[in-house]
Amino acid sequence: MKVLVLGNGGREHALAWKLAQGERVSQVYVAPGNGGTARDALLKNVALTDVKALADFAEAEKIALTVVGPEAFLAAGVVDEFRARGLRIFGPTKAAAQLESSKAFAKDFMKRHGIPTAAYETFSDAAAAHAYVEAQGAPIVIKADGLAAGKGVVVAMTLEQAHEAIDWILADNKLGVVHNEGGARVVIEQFLEGEEASFIVLCDGKNVVSLATSQDHKRLLDGDEGPNTGGMGAYSPAPVVTPNVHAKAMHEIIMPTVQGMARDGVPFTGFLYAGLMIDPSGQPRTVEFNTRMGDPETQPIMMRLKSDLFEVLMQATDGSLDQVELQWDRRVALGVVMAAGGYPLTPRKGDAISGLPADSDEAMVFHAGTIEKDGQLLTAGGRVLCVTALGESVRKAQQLAYDTLVPIQFEGKQYRRDIGHRAVKR
Ligand code: AMP
Ligand code: GLY
Repeated sequence: MKVLVLGNGGREHALAWKLAQGERVSQVYVAPGNGGTARDALLKNVALTDVKALADFAEAEKIALTVVGPEAFLAAGVVDEFRARGLRIFGPTKAAAQLESSKAFAKDFMKRHGIPTAAYETFSDAAAAHAYVEAQGAPIVIKADGLAAGKGVVVAMTLEQAHEAIDWILADNKLGVVHNEGGARVVIEQFLEGEEASFIVLCDGKNVVSLATSQDHKRLLDGDEGPNTGGMGAYSPAPVVTPNVHAKAMHEIIMPTVQGMARDGVPFTGFLYAGLMIDPSGQPRTVEFNTRMGDPETQPIMMRLKSDLFEVLMQATDGSLDQVELQWDRRVALGVVMAAGGYPLTPRKGDAISGLPADSDEAMVFHAGTIEKDGQLLTAGGRVLCVTALGESVRKAQQLAYDTLVPIQFEGKQYRRDIGHRAVKR
């Protein structure tokens, strides 16, 4: 059977790597893929990104299953197009993907269905937004309504920062947000305190299977300092998600969301990712929904998954996830992102990458922003590699990941030295 994975990041390399291990899988295509998927003998890149061209390719190649990586394909309606043509694809429709693509949709949905999240108001009028933050005070969180590649959120510690963020979003669009229909809108919400975790599940429209828990590191610098990024490293499992927190997340957030979407006439199929903020009493609240796997969370999660991902996703697209039980490696997996110099604002591109170690069962180098040109591997984006390792403890996984990345060289490389720090302290 042939499989198609859409996207070009570290997440897609890890998904494709795992799918290629499937018992019945003969070929995995990645569109458009990256330098790592180009080099992997079991994977093949396809230079396509247009939704109709991808569906044509899937028809011509008799692709048995397509798996969507990033949100942009979902917002472009790739699932709707494939389904209309009778092609099997795992992901949410454009309407269901609004849980991620529109913060206003997600917040209104959560309010309507009683799902724990931060209190909020939505504004398109700047004067009203400014007056609201004056009345609420800081800290306060300002979010653009559309997709912004992870840059549309400002956690304002002062009123001045809050006012500035409102102007960025509603007046000059300094954050480069792709606004939703009806123009620029801003969601202003209560600041939540606690520890974050990534809670990701598979949904078939009705049934849910949770993946192993994980934790991302969103800030650029050690000690969670510096600007927000797409994610600088992740590990699984996340000890902050105790069995009690897990049960609450399933019963109070995930199940009401899946049931609510079905009742609202937009059943959710695909990966559903709830970004949780867990307060000191163990109460999880939803910071955001993503309608896809996390990047870099996917890399450690795939290293720990023992089940055949292809078979699992075939069942997910058949609506029979109630019959699936996932098997996990008991060890910890931890991934360290190596980013380009200048990331996240102005990442360098085109630098030669050398010293890549051979992959093993315990340590994998997943590629993200890389391309292969005339046999040479070059940097091609902000997050370049994610070096991911398994270990008997967080410390051991951390040690192996950091030992593995030592020989890897490229101009301006930057990475955090403290991935996993919250788990090490526990
Ligand atoms: P988002 O894109 O919505 O996930 O937001 C990016 C990051 O901003 C999150 O991972 C949190 O660290 C932070 N954040 C977002 N909303 C809140 C909130 N209501 N309270 C505290 N931090 C938040
Ligand atoms: N790592 C965070 C995300 O994928 O949104």
